[in-house]
Amino acid sequence: MSSVRLGSSAMLKAVQRLGLGVLIITVLSLVYFILMTQSVAKLVQPRWHNSSSLIHRNASLPQLSQAMHLVTTVVPNNTTSAKKNYTDVSINSKTVTHNVSRHLQKTTPVDVVELARHFNGTWQQNDKAIAVLREELHNCCSTQEDFILTQKNIRIGMNIHYGIQKGKTFKVTSALSRMLPKTSPFSGRRFSRCSVVGNGAILSHSGCGQEIDKADYVFRCNLPPIGGKYAEDTGIRTNFTTANPISQISWIYKGLRSQQGRDKFMTDIKKYPGLLWVSAFQVKAATGISQQALRFVTQRRIRNPALVFGNPQHFINTMNYWKAHGLSNRLSTGMYMSSMALSVCDQVHLFGFWPFDKDPEDQPLAYHYYDKGKADKVHDMPQEFLKLLEWHQEGVVNVHVHKCQAGR
Ligand code: CDP
Repeated sequence: MSSVRLGSSAMLKAVQRLGLGVLIITVLSLVYFILMTQSVAKLVQPRWHNSSSLIHRNASLPQLSQAMHLVTTVVPNNTTSAKKNYTDVSINSKTVTHNVSRHLQKTTPVDVVELARHFNGTWQQNDKAIAVLREELHNCCSTQEDFILTQKNIRIGMNIHYGIQKGKTFKVTSALSRMLPKTSPFSGRRFSRCSVVGNGAILSHSGCGQEIDKADYVFRCNLPPIGGKYAEDTGIRTNFTTANPISQISWIYKGLRSQQGRDKFMTDIKKYPGLLWVSAFQVKAATGISQQALRFVTQRRIRNPALVFGNPQHFINTMNYWKAHGLSNRLSTGMYMSSMALSVCDQVHLFGFWPFDKDPEDQPLAYHYYDKGKADKVHDMPQEFLKLLEWHQEGVVNVHVHKCQAGR
């Protein structure tokens, strides 16, 4: 009997201990769960800039539009306007729909008048926001050292990964290495004022030439026509010009195979002093012709412009950075140059960025300032433009969309 009593009291104690154990485990699990939830929340929490507009850089397009009171409507695809190209997005002050980003390239008209209004008034530079962004870009992409392919950032025998053609690589040869600059021309350099010139027809009749040329350093895209009849609107200076190896060196200069093509290339590139930046390692088809062009200028001892190759790893890193900050498509040349400029310039002014088929007065507008042209569908320039608007409002870059005369 007493042994039964003894047994049951031991059991009681065991149950009590077990209950206490369960209680402790439950409390600990609860504490762990709360702590985890908080740290995850911190991770996904938007980081706000210290700027007056408080626009979150990770914001989606609709969030961004809302934050800027650029509320966006998507008109169904079967409307007349929907038959137009990607520039067709409607921005008004009443409705908002999600899916804007998805539809942006194909759908409805932008209220360009409303959009342009956001660029009225005096632009205020925000040094703090610029410093924060520059630091982030430095950490992700180390632009000053790695923007250009140099003997320092590659090794003979290593595989270069193509910027656009995923999975494709190029084994660095000693012949290639020898032709590259020893170190980056941007290493340790900083310019106080830069102009990045896009090729948008918004520049036509802008009178922005002088304003563009005021800069210490001028970036231009894709061997655009400069000087002559364009001088008043687009200026005459350039320090850095991109050239497309396929659509330009290969097609316009006939792959430098004929004497005629080579002579034209020689004459034309002299209009672009400074650096001539060729994207040799974006796709495999670009590499042969780019190397041929580099051999050609090296043999002819052409030092101005100096032909340099873009570093595809830098492009990939920059793309990934901006992907995490709302730019889902492949960066356009102009956007990539703008991001690059933020790393090497104290003050960045953008001109010729307006990927819409109407001007700020709602009048029809060509695509380029020098021809009708059309946008490459792999980019999402309207989405990029909202990023530019965000930067403009934050005081990070000054985007010029209005005419440059009379106190603008
Ligand atoms: O070849 P890609 O489309 O990149 O460039 P482009 O037509 O030669 O123009 C140079 C850059 O200017 C583009 O990459 C865009 O960033 C910008 N652009 C723009 O914002 N609006 C336009 N209507 C045309 C060009």
